[in-house]
Amino acid sequence: LDIQFTGSFPRLADCPKPDYPEFAFIGRSNVGKSSLINTLAGRRKLAKVSGTPGKTQLLNFFWAESSWYLVDLPGYGYAKVSKTKRASWEKMIREYLVKRENLQCIFLLIDGSIPPQQIDLEFANWLGECMVPFVIVYTKCDKVPKTKRAALRDNFRKAMLESWEEMPQEFTTSSSSKAGKEELLDFIRSLVKQSQAPE
Ligand code: GTP
Ligand code: MG
Repeated sequence: LDIQFTGSFPRLADCPKPDYPEFAFIGRSNVGKSSLINTLAGRRKLAKVSGTPGKTQLLNFFWAESSWYLVDLPGYGYAKVSKTKRASWEKMIREYLVKRENLQCIFLLIDGSIPPQQIDLEFANWLGECMVPFVIVYTKCDKVPKTKRAALRDNFRKAMLESWEEMPQEFTTSSSSKAGKEELLDFIRSLVKQSQAPE
């Protein structure tokens, strides 16, 4: 993928002009957002990855195929930063997600190797309440065998369908095996094309 780092910005007001279609990766801290961006990019160190949650702290922009932005966001739900800092991150993320006008789609990353987490369900509900379109991306699917993976996805669906009419589109990925990479890129490119089509 032809992609390069644009910059890191602390607030919505500092972000690049909203002139191009944009896609943002959000999810619990440590779910694998930065890793997935590297996987899509085919580069190991484009976005900063760490085993310690809380690695990504700003809105990180990447410019791809001279026509769209990928944005790596800080994770939510990380307990080990101070309350004040967490609140200010959350505010930054939420303001960006709700107000960014060129945002085509949000990728909500869900750890596909563990049972449904309340905090993820709450975040999905919040996106729904704000009417922000999103799709689900299960990560780390290499960590569990196929049958267990399917069962975990089913559990997540069941939990989500307690408050949703239907499931958003879903993708299953792994940054270790590169599973799901082409599907995600195809999806992004189709939305880019759509956004460029004359009204
Ligand atoms: P924050 O920036 O802290 O919010 O985290 P993040 O969501 O960007 O996660 P990051 O990509 O930094 O990855 C967190 C940890 O999970 C790292 O140790 C990664 O190596 C690991 N990881 C990420 N994706 C995968 C995956 O697909 N499979 C496996 N096995 N490990 C993964
Ligand atoms: Mg990160």
